[in-house]
Formats: sequence, C-alpha cells, structure tokens
Amino acid sequence: MYVDRNFTVGKVSDMLFGSFIEHLGRAVYTGIYEPGHPEANERGFRKDVIDLIRELNVSIVRYPGGNFVSGYNWEDGVGPMDKRPKKLDLAWRSLEPNEFGTNEFIEWCKLVGAEPRMSINLGTRGIDEARNFVEYCNHPAGSYYSDLRRNHGYEKPHSIKVWCLGNEMDGPWQIGHKTAKEYARLAEETAKVMKIVDPGIELVACGSSNWHMPTFGEWEATVLEHTYDYVEYVSLHTYYDNVEDDIENFLAKSLDMDSYIKSTIAICDYIKGCKKSNKTIDISFDEWNVWFHSREKDKEVAPWTIAPPLLEDIYTFEDALLVGLMLITLLKHANRVKIACLAQLVNVIAPIMTRKGGGAWRQTIFYPFMHASNYGRGVVLQPIISTDTYDTKDFSAVPYLDAIPVFNDEKDEITVFAVNRAQSKMDLECELRGFEGYSVLEHIVLENSDLKAVNTETNPFNVKPHSGGGARIEGDKVSAELSPLSWNVIRLGKG
Ligand code: AHR
Repeated sequence: MYVDRNFTVGKVSDMLFGSFIEHLGRAVYTGIYEPGHPEANERGFRKDVIDLIRELNVSIVRYPGGNFVSGYNWEDGVGPMDKRPKKLDLAWRSLEPNEFGTNEFIEWCKLVGAEPRMSINLGTRGIDEARNFVEYCNHPAGSYYSDLRRNHGYEKPHSIKVWCLGNEMDGPWQIGHKTAKEYARLAEETAKVMKIVDPGIELVACGSSNWHMPTFGEWEATVLEHTYDYVEYVSLHTYYDNVEDDIENFLAKSLDMDSYIKSTIAICDYIKGCKKSNKTIDISFDEWNVWFHSREKDKEVAPWTIAPPLLEDIYTFEDALLVGLMLITLLKHANRVKIACLAQLVNVIAPIMTRKGGGAWRQTIFYPFMHASNYGRGVVLQPIISTDTYDTKDFSAVPYLDAIPVFNDEKDEITVFAVNRAQSKMDLECELRGFEGYSVLEHIVLENSDLKAVNTETNPFNVKPHSGGGARIEGDKVSAELSPLSWNVIRLGKG
C-alpha cells in the first residue's frame, strides 16, 4: 500500500459516525429508556447504556424512524406524560405509549454527547405538520408552537440542524408510499416551507431504500430535479446478510455499497450538470448494517404489545468484519458521504444489547465502529493498493486487502484501518510518503478462529479486540502481519 501525505480524498465529516434510534422493538423502551431500572437516572435514561454509547463516540443520532415515522404524530410525544395517547404503530404492529418523545430525545442526546437529527412524517402527513414541528423545535419564542415548547419546560430552542424529509418513500411497504413524482413535489414544497421557518436547517431528501430497488436512479433523478435547491443531502440505505453462509461472498458485499455510493453520486452530479448549478448534493448514508439473523424470529412476535423483541440480531465475528469493511467504504468516500448512521444503536440490529431489568453489553460489531469513530477523524488519504483478488458468486476481483488511512492533523496521528479478507495470514507493507519520525502507537486486532462467535450477557467478552498486532515501522515503511480474516487498526504517532 502506497500513501502520500499530499494525496487526499477529503476531510472526514464528524457526522460520519452517526447512529439511529427508532421507536421499534426495544430500542427506546427497555433500551435507552427504562424507568425503575437500577441504572436509570431520574429521567428514566439508562446510564449503563449511555456509557457504552459514549465509548462509541456517536456524533449524531437519527430519530424517531425509520418506517415508524411515516405514521407518527409528533404532537403525541410532547407535553404532560399523563395526557399522551397510546397509539397503534402500524409500521411494526406494536403499541406506542409515547412516554418518550422529542423533548426526552433531545435531553438524552445531550447526555450521550450526540447531535439530534429529526425525521418528519411524509407518509400520512405533510407540509403543515412539518412546519409546525420545526417551529416547535427551533423557533425561539413568541409563536404558538415555540411557546408550547416553552410551556413544556424548554425555554431555549432545540436548534435541530439536520432534518430528513420522510423515510424510504419509494418502498411499497412504507405507510403512505409514493411514486417518485408524488414524493418529489411533496418534499419540494415541505422543504421550502421548513426553510422559511428556519433557514439554518439542512435537509435530506429520500433516495432509494436500497440500490436494488427497481426504481433506483429514476427515483433519485426525479426527486433531485424538484428538490435540488432546497436540500443538502440525498439518503441511501443498505443492509447485508449471509443467509447462504458463504464467507467469501459475504465479505465482498462492501463492494456493492461502494458501487451504490458511486452510482448515487453520479446521479447527483448529473442533475447538477443539467441545472448548471454550483451547488453539490452530498450523501447521507442514513441506514447501514448487517441484518438477517432475527428475520424468522420476528414472524413469531405477537402484535400490539409495547416494546416487543424485534430485529434483535445477535452479531457474529464475521458480521464485525463486514461492518469494518463498510466503515472503510464510507471513509473512502469521505469527500461526498457527509453523514452516515449505523442502523441502529440499541437492541434493534444494534452494537449494544440490553436485558430488561438486567445488564447491557457490546455486540461484536461494536468494536469496528468504536475504532473508526475514535481514530478515523481527520483527513482521508488516497491509498494505492496492490493485492491479490478473488471471485465469488456475486462479485469478481474482490481484493483480499481493503484498507484506508486517515491522518489526524491535530493529534499528528495516522491510523490505517485494514481488513484481511483472506483465510490465510497476509504481509502488509505500507509506504507512508511524506510522513517521517512516526512510531507505532498501537496495532489493534479483532480476530477469532470461530466466524460464528458472539457476545452474550453471560459471555460479553467472547469476541473482543487485542492490542498485540505487532506492526513495525522503519523510516516511512510500515510492515505488519495481518491475521487471517481480521480487522486491524494500526495507529502511528509521534508519541
Ligand atoms: O432499520 C430498520 C428499518 O429498516 C427502518 O425502519 C426502515 O427505514 C428500513 O427498512
């Protein structure tokens, strides 16, 4: 691998290490919020969960959905608790008590140290509710909705900067699913009005629910033709699985994510060209993860209960490798992917699990996210990588080595994130041109002889990283032996 200090991809946006809390399953209730739990604070927020989220250094959290938002009335979740209605959540066929709503979310975000980002309902609702919601959250005072917020005990505006214009509106499963034209016009008018209320906000238009949607491409182009002047980002979502139990094909799936990002950028820039615009639309990768372990179990869950155990994927070691590869992919596009949210954060396809009344623990995927979020801030350098490749059922020329270096100017540290996709060890040689006098601070490795190894409440550290990687540096040349099927974080600094 060759790296040159002068050849950069772009600065990593702080919002690249975001996550997502939806009113779904046990994400909110018995996840982040469980009054009466021994670890709960006076507001009912679980402190053990907050501590784990702080380890992840999550920068921004998307809320309240997801599919949930397309049937949600934000007014149900504010004001005195005893007046809040219990409603049917049609997206997940659950009962929503509305004990946790916008203001609780804002308070909780402050405790975890993350920016809040809000989705609005463009499924069953539209312009009017959206403008009222922005007024409630962001207008200082003196109007009906801003004063309502103040009456609810929040004198200062919440100043929520990033807002999503609905969720997966191209998906036939979505409440209030729309054609591209129907959504494009609604999003355009809603965005216009939201920005009249608060011109400082940034807006995300819905792109496709995944790259393989039949409407992909046409959808993005139509939506951006209408919304271009009002939005800053277009959203992408993707989830991968290993139902076929084919490790080589599974670990190649980050290449699909890479092509999806490149294709969406091409469409954004096509519309930019057509409009002869100086403005560039960036990518908000709003949902990404591995998701498949819980799909069968979810079919057995009884409807219309509060916080049923839905989407509780128990992640394996191999899932952590793909999550690492997906993080590398996001970093490779740091110049255009400005927001990304690991979906989701607690209990629901999540890095953190809890038991009601019990403990909280880290899943396998916790670790690559924690490493990237803590050591992946700075400027991404453009590597030239020479590696052998392999072919799989769905992919050809899959590189055995995938890696990305990030230079943190403030700390004067370089971190190389690398995954060895091979089932044998690999010798990595990395030339860092323009970087002199650095030493290896740490070589963290996540490896395991059992691809299906998991962490549980009773065995929470079955899969965990170690710092015994043994990378060396001589002059500007780093060499390291990468274990078979491993996630590596090689940290270099002047210390
Ligand atoms: O993250 C789970 C669900 O996946 C979200 O609610 C939806 O947007 C997506 O289909």
